[in-house]
Order: sequence, then C-alpha cells, then structure tokens
Amino acid sequence: MKLTPEQILEIFNFRHACKKFDGRPLPEAEWNTILEAGRLSPSSFGYEPWHFVVVQKRELLEKLYPWTWGGQRTLYNASHLLIILARRQRDLQPDSQYLGHMMRDVLGLTPELCQAREERYATWQERDFDLTQERPVFDWACKQSYIALANMMTVAASLGVDSCPIEGFKRTEVERILQEEGILEPQHFGVAVMATFGYRAEAPHRPKTRQSLGEITTWVR
Ligand SMILES: Cc1cc2nc3c(=O)[nH]c(=O)nc-3n(C[C@H](O)[C@H](O)[C@H](O)COP(=O)(O)O)c2cc1C
Repeated sequence: MKLTPEQILEIFNFRHACKKFDGRPLPEAEWNTILEAGRLSPSSFGYEPWHFVVVQKRELLEKLYPWTWGGQRTLYNASHLLIILARRQRDLQPDSQYLGHMMRDVLGLTPELCQAREERYATWQERDFDLTQERPVFDWACKQSYIALANMMTVAASLGVDSCPIEGFKRTEVERILQEEGILEPQHFGVAVMATFGYRAEAPHRPKTRQSLGEITTWVR
C-alpha cells in the first residue's frame, strides 16, 4: 500500500505534543503496532541498544510524577507511559556479552564473521566516532532510541493516536526509582527519553510553529 503525499503530511500535522489525554485506553492491537514500530526501527550496526518499559501501574506513575515535570500534565490521563532505556558502555563494548548475543543469536553470524565484525566495530568506535568513554557511548545509544521514539509517535499518529515526548525529568531520580522497582539494572541501562500515548482531550492550543524549509535547508546542486 502506498500513501499519497497529502496523507503523509496529514499524519505529520496530526501529531503534536499532546498536553492532555482523555483517559481512554488504546486498543491492545494499536499499542502493539506502536511497539512493533519501535522494535523494527533501525540501529547502528543493528545492535538495538534500547529497551522499552511500558508503564500503566498507578503506583509507579505516582512515584515518577514529582521528578517528571515535563510529563505532569499527561502522566495520569495517558493510556500508556513509555520509558525508553538505552544501553550503557559496558554492553556496547566490542567484546561485551550483549554484542556477542546480538551477533550470534539475533544477526545469526558465524564465529568468523562475529570476530571480523567485532574488530571492525572496535576500530570504528575508537578511530572514527571517538566512542571510548561512558557518557558519549550512552548518548550514542540514546540518539538511536530517539529514532525508535520518532517512529512510534509517527505510527501512533497514523493510527489516530496522540503522544507527547518527554525529556522534562530528573534522570538520576527516575533511574533510582526504576532500579528500586527492579526494572532497571544501572550497569546495563540508563533512561534515554519517555513518551505518553493516548487520545487527545482537546484540540491543540495553537497551530504548528516551524521555520520555513528555506531557513533550514541548503541545496547543493
Ligand atoms: C525530545 C523531546 C523532548 C520533549 N520533552 C517534552 C516534555 O518534557 N514535555 C512536553 O510537554 N513536551 C515536550 N516535548 C514537546 C516539544 O515541546 C514539541 O514537540 C515542540 O514544541 C513542537 O511542537 P509539536 O510537537 O506540537 O509540533 C519534547 C519534544 C521532544 C522532541
């Protein structure tokens, strides 16, 4: 099936950072489609450095609320809160257990190919992208998590589902809470970004504001 350019732009104009949901739950099939869009998202080397935490439990939302100032308007009226975890350096080192699992069990590579890939990846990380320290490596994993987030929000919009991306939270406190709840292992993961999903309670308060294409595009031809 092929969408028309008008239909595609309609989806992008429908999506906005929703400030209030009406509390209706999303049908399971729709939520699963949104999650699938995250799962099928592309990642560097195909290493999927993310994990999706889906929160619907009121007690956990209440614990997160004081530290999630950017989500306070939607946390309690959304259908789902998504927290995307990103892998830390330990899991993204060339010889890590996690990457061994990815190459062997997910990408289905032979031991020889795994070895060659490990070397190529190590050279790329060190020489080309300067990914040798904890924070840049975590940020690299976060960047990729945002690709999954964007795909999930666009797919949601194409299903008529609203969303709000959330970076307005105190990362250390959210990670502490998730660790206490047994959801996050801090040696392996940190919190990249969150988003709420549901159905809008009211129309967007203002029309979309964006720079023109002329302002943000340089053509070289
Ligand atoms: C990575 C990211 C983080 C954001 N964090 C928040 C947030 O914490 N709370 C919020 O209400 N909106 C948040 N937003 C929404 C933006 O303010 C919004 O996308 C932007 O103003 C453009 O408006 P639109 O999405 O309605 O077109 C975030 C957006 C992005 C992409």
